[in-house]
Amino acid sequence: MHNEKTTITASIASLYKRLFTHYTVMASDLFDKFRFGQGAGNTNNRPTNTPQPDSSPESSGSAVPNTPSDGNVGNTPPPASGNTFDRSQLGQVFIPPSLLSLDSGNAPKMDDATFKKFRDFVYEQCGISFTENKKYLLEGRIAKRLEAHNLTTFDEYYRLISSSAAAREELPSLFEVVTINETYFFRNPPQFEALEQVILPEILKAKQAQGNKKLRIWSAASSSGEEAYTMSMMILERIKPQFPGFTFEIVGSDINTAVLEKARSGVFKEYSVRNMPAHYLNKYFTRDGDKYVLTPEVRNQVKFICVNLYDTPTMRTMTGFDVVFCCNVLIYFDTIAKQQVVADLYDALNKSGYLFIGYSESLHGVSKAFKLVHFPKTIAYKKE
Ligand SMILES: C[S@@+](CC[C@H](N)C(=O)[O-])C[C@H]1O[C@@H](n2cnc3c(N)ncnc32)[C@H](O)[C@@H]1O
Repeated sequence: MHNEKTTITASIASLYKRLFTHYTVMASDLFDKFRFGQGAGNTNNRPTNTPQPDSSPESSGSAVPNTPSDGNVGNTPPPASGNTFDRSQLGQVFIPPSLLSLDSGNAPKMDDATFKKFRDFVYEQCGISFTENKKYLLEGRIAKRLEAHNLTTFDEYYRLISSSAAAREELPSLFEVVTINETYFFRNPPQFEALEQVILPEILKAKQAQGNKKLRIWSAASSSGEEAYTMSMMILERIKPQFPGFTFEIVGSDINTAVLEKARSGVFKEYSVRNMPAHYLNKYFTRDGDKYVLTPEVRNQVKFICVNLYDTPTMRTMTGFDVVFCCNVLIYFDTIAKQQVVADLYDALNKSGYLFIGYSESLHGVSKAFKLVHFPKTIAYKKE
């Protein structure tokens, strides 16, 4: 009787502990995702007195893997329409039925040695750097892949992912769970304003003088495509009327094939369009229930491909771009990986082309190859 009581008490305690850990991870995801009104931390080249436009997980610099890119966590509803988020939603954390039915003793554990193996593997494959204090996140996310393969230990999954034949098939799924895909339309408006008002007219006039009528933009690490499509809309609205003879090609790329599929679909939820000026929303989208569907003219200028920024042979195939946006991804890399990726981005640009990186990112200590150019409330890096 005494033993039975002890076992039941231990099971309940273990279940509580698991629930607590799970809540902590979800709350951390939520907190990061909806971190409104906080400063982005110091960067060296960023202009001062710039208002903080971005409340995303990336600005914290934490390699927190992805929750769905439309911003939903579990079944927590997305923010209400408009640009505001109701903080009360932070309390409405959905408990997945699967968690409630969990047998308390079953959760696989990742020991330190296994964590190091996975950490090194993920880094080697895609440059994403998980520090020791993010072990619980890597553990939680990779646990999903164990479940998908009906495996019980992380070592079994490690054997699978590191055996060359099976790894080829599994890698995209691993990338899906270790990446964070937060994005939305018109994410950093000063960048798009600099592009529209200064950079594109400058480049297009130079091209016109040379008889070159094609402009190419790359949204590297595009996630589900909102950044690439923002530029496509802006070009249709503001640039094409001034430069009618030009062809505009926008390439969106990402390592996560699931978000690329979403990008290709051109269908978005309220969360993605929450920063969208009403004019653009009315003109370039149709409604399908609670979904926003992009018009073909916006989609036709954009194509999406899978590119691993940390894979130099693939990066060498990416050439001839006039503008590259590589925003809110470098923060997941360490300095060595950043240096490699930024050197490859430099090579991908045409002479006189521009690179944009995220609001909270900097090339300080990463590259001296570019000229820093200041615009109102933003900066860009020019290849001279
Ligand atoms: C936070 S999102 C940024 C999306 C968009 N650029 C923006 O600023 O809104 C970061 C994206 O980088 C992608 N990513 C991470 N590591 C990558 C790599 N090695 N190569 C290509 N994409 C990567 C992720 O899959 C994710 O979609």
